[in-house]
Amino acid sequence: MRVLILGGDGYLGWPTAIYLSRKGHDVAVVDNYFRRLACHQLDAEPLIPVPNLNQRARLWNEKTGLTIQVAIGDICDYVFLCKCFTGEAFGIKEEWIPEAIVHYAEQPSAPYSMMDHEKAIFTIQNNLLGTANIIHAVNKFNPDCHIIKLGTMGVYGTPNIDIEEGYLDVEYKGRKHTFLYPKTPGSLYHLTKAQDGDLLYFYARMWNIRVSDLNQGPVYGLVTDESKHDEKLITIFNYDDIFGTVLNRFLVQAVIGHPLTVYGKGGQTRGYIDIRDTIACIELALLNPAQAGEYRVFNQITETFSVKELANKIVEAARDLGLTVKIKAIKNPRKEAEKHYYNPKYSGLKDLGLTPHLLTQDKLKTMLEFVSRHQSLIHKRYIMPRVTWG
Ligand SMILES: NC(=O)c1ccc[n+]([C@@H]2O[C@H](COP(=O)([O-])OP(=O)(O)OC[C@H]3O[C@@H](n4cnc5c(N)ncnc54)[C@H](O)[C@@H]3O)[C@@H](O)[C@H]2O)c1
Repeated sequence: MRVLILGGDGYLGWPTAIYLSRKGHDVAVVDNYFRRLACHQLDAEPLIPVPNLNQRARLWNEKTGLTIQVAIGDICDYVFLCKCFTGEAFGIKEEWIPEAIVHYAEQPSAPYSMMDHEKAIFTIQNNLLGTANIIHAVNKFNPDCHIIKLGTMGVYGTPNIDIEEGYLDVEYKGRKHTFLYPKTPGSLYHLTKAQDGDLLYFYARMWNIRVSDLNQGPVYGLVTDESKHDEKLITIFNYDDIFGTVLNRFLVQAVIGHPLTVYGKGGQTRGYIDIRDTIACIELALLNPAQAGEYRVFNQITETFSVKELANKIVEAARDLGLTVKIKAIKNPRKEAEKHYYNPKYSGLKDLGLTPHLLTQDKLKTMLEFVSRHQSLIHKRYIMPRVTWG
């Protein structure tokens, strides 16, 4: 399949690209280096420097004899995006129209979106304009093209009822209707993910486009089968307060002997997923596309933990490696429930064939060992949160 990966330089984009390339798909990646620039600007560098996208693709292509095409540019620039739909942006002479799009190209950080006016407006413009451009380009060049967009479980918030996969059946005054599941996002970033979903749902109904929205939880892990023998192919690992996800942050804290920074009571429960399962879910969505006019939603997680439970797992794994790790509750910089009901449904992707890799002690130990090998590169100043919600 011809697959266009938008955001192909990112944490998820690059491992997805090399996986799909190895599986024989014709892969092209696009990125504008927003993430790298933001990391420089905010002093939030990844643990290990990674080669740029052109260098990584060249490395992969030379190593495997396969071809990943690269274009550097902004998907909010519609003229540029249209060139990605014809092949021109990649310098491909014959027509190259994607059959599927994996849309990762958004500003993905909640703290970034809550930092100040400039970053709030950027997040809104980037995430919504980019998604609207994709929809228009699909309609113009190939209305049959399947859009796989990464959403987030954070759009649902923490309602006091079960979270269904995307839709909710409502019975009201004797009549029944199925609505999109109500959204209660907890940051501006999460709000834009709810709104980009609304855009896609709207155009699926208006223009019959095919959409899969994968509401994902925080992803962990960095090494995949394609990168395990070459560190230059490993994806970015951020552990700072802006782009680092909770598990990555705790791993680094454990390795340098900093108490694990649990926000508030630590009862915030979320769904998590291994990066290998994220990629498997993308492939499953790709091979089982949504119908024309269908806005399909999957909850892309494999298990749930509270922040406190996660911290305890890391303490245990670290102990086996001879590290003594403490947990310290710190003032929660976010506005969120610290103890709540949480029962999300996530059977759709398993029904399509997903076999989850769960967060075992062995997996945690492997990640701790990886971070330990690069301990000299860790910056302690990245540990404490800088951004508050209110
Ligand atoms: N990583 C997670 O734990 C997680 C969890 C839930 C949802 N998601 C979603 O998955 C997607 C990818 O997340 P990630 O962790 O890989 O983030 P990332 O920041 O590493 O990757 C996104 C990539 O898109 C690029 N990009 C952003 N705006 C762009 C634009 N206008 N034009 C071209 N490129 C652009 C960035 O430079 C970056 O390389 C995001 O949409 C995010 O909301 C991620």
